[in-house]
Amino acid sequence: LNAFRNCLYKRLKEQDVQSGNKVSIVGAGAVGTGCAMALLCKGVTNNIAIYDLRKEFCSAERQDLLQGSLFLNNCKIDNRTTIECTKNSRVVVVTAGVRSKANESRQNLVHRSAEIIKQIAPELVKQSPKAVFIIVTNPVDVMTWVTRKITNLPFERCLSTGCHLDTARFRMFIAKILRVSTSSVHGMVLGEHGDTSVPIWSSVSVGGTLLKDLLPNIGTDQDSNGWSNVHKDVVNAAYKVIAGKGYTNWAVGLTICDVVSAIFENSNRILTLSTSAKGMCGVKDDVFLSLPCIVNQGGIYGIIRPHLSDWEKEKFKKSAEVVLNIQNTVKI
Ligand code: 2OP
Repeated sequence: LNAFRNCLYKRLKEQDVQSGNKVSIVGAGAVGTGCAMALLCKGVTNNIAIYDLRKEFCSAERQDLLQGSLFLNNCKIDNRTTIECTKNSRVVVVTAGVRSKANESRQNLVHRSAEIIKQIAPELVKQSPKAVFIIVTNPVDVMTWVTRKITNLPFERCLSTGCHLDTARFRMFIAKILRVSTSSVHGMVLGEHGDTSVPIWSSVSVGGTLLKDLLPNIGTDQDSNGWSNVHKDVVNAAYKVIAGKGYTNWAVGLTICDVVSAIFENSNRILTLSTSAKGMCGVKDDVFLSLPCIVNQGGIYGIIRPHLSDWEKEKFKKSAEVVLNIQNTVKI
């Protein structure tokens, strides 16, 4: 059985777990507060800290949430304004960074975001050396690599929501077309969180039926039925929301919340998170990309070895090249 498990997934190392249920959110912007709201409303934790360099703004966000504590499981929000407020967290969510402007690619933020991560990540690790770190600052794949490089956190505990959000959008768009519930569409998006993400059409199934058994070319360039538009919608989803309201926050907040709940429940659920793809799907470099990850209390327990179609393999390779090229422009 061990050999069979090893064929299915690559095991990562077992990690020591921080006790308690404290989640620290770094960055009190729309994504950070969206994440706080999701965590508290869904009852994933009632113990959070929100840290931001804009102290007054952050205190106001904290107060506003705290005033709803009657409806939020008597939540505790650490009221210190220094980085010590994040001390002994079980999970640290990093959202601090810069926002994309309308039609600005996530990759364009790389140098400004990297400076922020370089400053803050070592301090955060000092406060919570055993926490699982979830990086949400864009471009997320490169920022997670930067975090790991400068902190030397174990791979298991340094991850990103990555394509978990793209996967959620993909399943939602297919569900709408087929008139079934989003949770009944199984499928995933891998690779870069963003423009070169890869829809894994070969494994999309609804009620046990693989869609590719009905339409062998589904979603590919040879598909004449328009399914490739679904992935275009996934790629454009954030651009559209940003054009309308200036930023995205609700879907990403819920996505982060889902990752935290998978950790807290020690669930071994499989989520498409960004992790080092070295040795997977033909990738030779330490480049961070989304793969189906088994998530437990220690962070990433293992990574599924995906069986991709030739079309998907090619796209995944391209995605890896694009992310690696951006990664190489960052000085550590
Ligand atoms: C999103 O996809 C902007 O990465 C953010 O919503």
